Amino acid sequence: MNLYGKSFLKLLDFSAEEINFYLDLAKKLKEQKKQGIPHRLCQGKNIALVFEKTSTRTRCSFEVACADLGMHPVYLDPKSSQIGKKESIADTARVLGRMFDGIEYRGYGQEIVEDLAKYSKVPVWNGLTNEFHPTQILADFLTIKEHIGELKGKKLVYMGDARYNMGNSLMVGCAKMGMHFVACSNQKYFPNQDLINACKEIAKESGATLEFITDPMVATKNADVIYTDVWVSMGEPEEVWKERITDLLPYRVTMELINNANKNCKFMHCLPAFHDLKTDTGLEIYKKFGLDCMEVTDEVFESEHSIVFDEAENRMHTIKAVMVASLVEKI
Ligand code: CP
Ligand code: NVA
Repeated sequence: MNLYGKSFLKLLDFSAEEINFYLDLAKKLKEQKKQGIPHRLCQGKNIALVFEKTSTRTRCSFEVACADLGMHPVYLDPKSSQIGKKESIADTARVLGRMFDGIEYRGYGQEIVEDLAKYSKVPVWNGLTNEFHPTQILADFLTIKEHIGELKGKKLVYMGDARYNMGNSLMVGCAKMGMHFVACSNQKYFPNQDLINACKEIAKESGATLEFITDPMVATKNADVIYTDVWVSMGEPEEVWKERITDLLPYRVTMELINNANKNCKFMHCLPAFHDLKTDTGLEIYKKFGLDCMEVTDEVFESEHSIVFDEAENRMHTIKAVMVASLVEKI
C-alpha cells in the first residue's frame, strides 16, 4: 500500500483496501500513544491548518497529532488570512506549497480543497467541506470496529439532513466497505442523485446496500448504528432553522428508535450536538420554537448506547494516520 504524497480529499478517491490501511495504521498509532511509545515519524516537517469555518475536534486533532509526530503546525483562522478575500485559492496554494509539507483545509465548496491540492503540489487533507467530511468517517469506522467489529454487513442508519457533508460521506464510506446504509429523512433531504448513482455502482462491487426511507421505525429496524448530525450546518443562513425543524423533527433520534434497533445498537454523532439547553444556539431555539433538544434527545446522548466521545477521540488517531500515510515514504 503506497499512499505517500497522496492527498485525502474524499473517500470516493480510495479503495476499501486503502481505507482499511488508514484504519489499521490509526489503530497501531493509537496503541503506541496509549503505551507511551514515541512515534515522531514526521520530525521537522511543517503543516498549514487552514480553517475558513470554526472547529474544536478537527483543529485539536491536527495540532495534537502534529505534536506527537514531531511536526510544526501553523493555524490560519477564518478571519486572519488573505484567502479568498484578497488572494485566490490557486495563488494561496502555490504560496503554501512552497513553505509547507502538507495542508489541511476546512471550508466551503469541495472544489476549493481540490484546487488547493492541484496547485500546491503537496498533500492536502480535507478537514470538512460542504460536500464531504472524510476524516470524520475514518474516525467513525475505527470506532465501529472497536465497539461492534468488522464493518462489512453492518447496518448504519443516518437520520436527518442526508444531503450535506455527513450524509454524503457516510453513504460513500458504507458503499466502499460493503455496509448496509440507510438514509432516513424527509424526501427533500436525501443525497443528490449523481452521488447515489456513483455509490450504487460501488455497492455492486462491495456487496453494500443503500436504502432511502422516510419512516423512522422501518428504517431503524435491525440497525447496528444510528447516526445523526446537526440540522443546520456551518455556513447555512439562520433563516433555514424554522423549515429544518418542521421537516426534521420526526427524524430526531429518540429512545424509541434505539429500542427499535438491534439490542446492542450504538448511537453516533460527529459532534457538536444539540441535545440539551447548555449552548447559546440551543437556548435560542428553545426560546423561539420551544424545543429542549434537536437532532437527538439528551436521554439517548447520555445513554450507554452512545459512543460519541470514543468517536471524538478517534478523530485524532485517524487524522494522525492520514498525515503519516501522506508524509512518510516507508512506514
Ligand atoms: N466533528 C467535527 O468535525 O468537529 P469540529 O467541528 O469541532 O471540528
Ligand atoms: N454538518 C456539520 C458537520 C460538523 C462536523 C457542519 O457542516 O456544520
